[in-house]
Amino acid sequence: MKDTSGASPISETARTASLRAALLDHYDRFARELPWRRDTDPYRVLVSEIMLQQTRVETVTGYYDPWLARFPTLDALALADEDEVLKAWEGLGYYRRARNLHRAARVVREERGGEIPDSYDELRSLPGIGEYTAGAIASISFGAVVPAVDGNVKRVLSRLFDEADPKPAWLRRRATELVDPERPGDWNQALMELGATVCTPRAPRCDACPWTVECRARAAGTQRDRPAKSAKRPVPTADIGVVVVHANGRLFLQKRPPEGLLAGMWAFPEADGVTASEARALVRDLGMEPAGSVARLEVVRHRFTHLEARYHPWSIEVAARSASEDPRCVWVDPTDPGERALPRAQQKVLTSWLREHRESS
Ligand code: ADE
Repeated sequence: MKDTSGASPISETARTASLRAALLDHYDRFARELPWRRDTDPYRVLVSEIMLQQTRVETVTGYYDPWLARFPTLDALALADEDEVLKAWEGLGYYRRARNLHRAARVVREERGGEIPDSYDELRSLPGIGEYTAGAIASISFGAVVPAVDGNVKRVLSRLFDEADPKPAWLRRRATELVDPERPGDWNQALMELGATVCTPRAPRCDACPWTVECRARAAGTQRDRPAKSAKRPVPTADIGVVVVHANGRLFLQKRPPEGLLAGMWAFPEADGVTASEARALVRDLGMEPAGSVARLEVVRHRFTHLEARYHPWSIEVAARSASEDPRCVWVDPTDPGERALPRAQQKVLTSWLREHRESS
């Protein structure tokens, strides 16, 4: 942003001090009581910050305490097996986060004597910990004077300085200048909180904002247009045939490969195409023979970060279950897939299979 105020360094310092005092005072009065704000233990903060990546506070509050009940310490998480970890994450989405959190716990346990590092740079070197998460953990748990810029903070700063197109380097500089050196963890959370509750994307509540006088976008009347929206790239669509293979009331699931989409999760097998004959061919490839009819189930849509998936499920009965000893294949009770994490789209397929099956039996 061009500084047209002709501000001297002194007045810039005074402005920073007044911005800090106003926001921290607001935070002290209005901060939401969130489960991860009860203490600053680094493992707990790590868990909450990973869960909060791309996920709303309201969703995370339903997962955070159950997670800690199941994996109360970093060691407990490091020693758990991946199926258990994915199961506890089931429904939160972006499962790569769970696998990275698990890997980070193992690295810390095996290579760092179980101590989560206290510096931004070392945190950054752990799996799944980017700039934002490293800044959040370093400041909240260890009092490091570093910023943590998420989408909310980007919006707040873009409005405060009336910067239409804030670039990462600009954001880093502005956020770094502002961090309160006495209370960096509270500061970062206060900024996020302001973005989540007051300086919201479409209808900012400027009358409730502690920065309403200092905000340059408000002065210019541009707050709703900051940051300027970038043209959204269209997301590619993928049509995926999946098959619910069943025999004697049990369903066939496969564990997905360790890399790629939904890595390590349990899922219905995917066919080479979306037609009934491709679905039948898949069953034969699995070493089984379709018996009886092939029924189409309703299409399930699921939005991944970079992909709009349309699942075309088929229900195919086989006379006998495959005899394979492959540990990556299981036959499960459809009303209780047990300790296996099913991705959300697969759960929807399962629900529609159960509905059809009940209706037709
Ligand atoms: N979003 C990301 N981290 C957060 C935190 N610590 N509190 C509230 N919202 C957040």
